[in-house]
Amino acid sequence: MAPNISNFLQRKSKEFKQNPMKFFASFIPKLQRYVVSEVRRHAPLLSLKPIDGIRIEQVTTENVASISHFRSQEVVESFRRYLAQGDLGIYAFYGDRAVGHAWAALPDGTRRLIWGHMPVTSDTVSFLFFSVDPQFRGRKIFQLMLVELVKLVFSTTNVSRVLADVPVYNAPSLAGVERAGFRRLCILPVLRWRGHTIRLARIPKAEPDRP
Ligand SMILES: CC(C)(COP(=O)(O)OP(=O)(O)OC[C@H]1O[C@@H](n2cnc3c(N)ncnc32)[C@H](O)[C@@H]1OP(=O)(O)O)[C@@H](O)C(=O)NCCC(=O)NCCS
Repeated sequence: MAPNISNFLQRKSKEFKQNPMKFFASFIPKLQRYVVSEVRRHAPLLSLKPIDGIRIEQVTTENVASISHFRSQEVVESFRRYLAQGDLGIYAFYGDRAVGHAWAALPDGTRRLIWGHMPVTSDTVSFLFFSVDPQFRGRKIFQLMLVELVKLVFSTTNVSRVLADVPVYNAPSLAGVERAGFRRLCILPVLRWRGHTIRLARIPKAEPDRP
């Protein structure tokens, strides 16, 4: 038998023996649903009061590791990759500790999708990855980061809209996006199967801006 087929079968047999349920589940397509919302360049954003003890800074190669007591080394490495590919990030700092992160994927000249389903084009930026340290949740740090990242995107690019996708079950995230002034566009169902993604609906295209 060709060595790569033999390796493949050995790997599959090992996966089956380790966890038969997980092995069979991996063959079943997964349906995920996202609420997609947008904020446009001229739309009013939430005006937020500063949060006691919290300051917002853009992520740079110098401060990127300040999040390492909250996120794993692997996540910090992915943030270094985001920086290298020109994406925009901000951290919410409490003292010298970053307690929240927010990332947006910028257009890089070629049309692309992030997470297999969100568009990044010359006119559209999509949010990439947000989280708040569990000890600091419920203080509106998420909302503050949403608003500050939108401002940063519009001040550093010419795009006319920023999109956010939130899984339909993520109540705090949905509330934060709505409070920050995003307008709900559609529900996007996505089918994932063994590394492949199929989008089962279209995200409406950006309409011309009316300042
Ligand atoms: C989602 C997340 C970023 C929110 O961070 P946060 O700083 O605690 O959020 P905020 O304090 O800004 O709260 C946002 C809103 O959600 C509301 N909220 C909080 N928990 C809620 C819950 N369980 N159900 C409904 N609403 C909730 C808050 O009351 C607030 O609304 P308000 O302004 O009307 O009071 C944080 O929970 C998190 O990191 N979760 C894990 C990662 C994740 O889900 N990332 C986002 C993926 S899209």
